[in-house]
Amino acid sequence: MTSIFEILGLGPVMPVVTLDDADDAIPLARALIAGGVRTIEVTLRTEAAFDAISRIRNEFVNIQVGAGTVTAPEQVTVLSRMRAHFAVSPGCLPSLIDASQRHQMPFLPGVMTPSEALGLRELGFRCVKFFPAVPAGGVGMVKAMSAVYPELIFCPTGGITQDTAPDWLALDAVRCVGGSWVAPRKLIAAKDFDAIERRAQAASSLR
Ligand code: 3PG
Repeated sequence: MTSIFEILGLGPVMPVVTLDDADDAIPLARALIAGGVRTIEVTLRTEAAFDAISRIRNEFVNIQVGAGTVTAPEQVTVLSRMRAHFAVSPGCLPSLIDASQRHQMPFLPGVMTPSEALGLRELGFRCVKFFPAVPAGGVGMVKAMSAVYPELIFCPTGGITQDTAPDWLALDAVRCVGGSWVAPRKLIAAKDFDAIERRAQAASSLR
């Protein structure tokens, strides 16, 4: 099992992808890997998501594939059965923590406030997602939170772009950023995997 800390260290950007068609999963993952990406978060916002995660998991050994937008413990059970590498939530619930511990599923919970970060720190979490990063206060908010919780590692996600990612990655507390700009839904639907590979290359070169 690869820990969330290790997964967040696999590259400067974790692409967040939403797949409408599970048939796009393999060419998408292939393009991301060719672009140097080693971790991918597939959001559970479409019916194709579980199938897509399972296909990527079974096809490739050199990428960590997890689920995003995890909001219910039952989803963690399904992810565990398909041997997904990790689960990410926009927020956090005790039932999600229980399920991830029960299934030994690396779990990245989301925080937006100092109290949420404090609560997770008290439970032993070292890594959290800062979501939605830009609307919730931007780089200044992570700077302020890491000043009081220096041991916390943040993965900011939400509103970050190729151009703004370096501002976040400049912070010691930010191990990587998440974002959909690397493989946006439109490019996946257009099956423009060459463009996605170029974006992946640019994103992988950020740090
Ligand atoms: C997520 O799913 O974690 C975020 O919504 C991705 O945000 P972005 O589309 O602004 O990159």
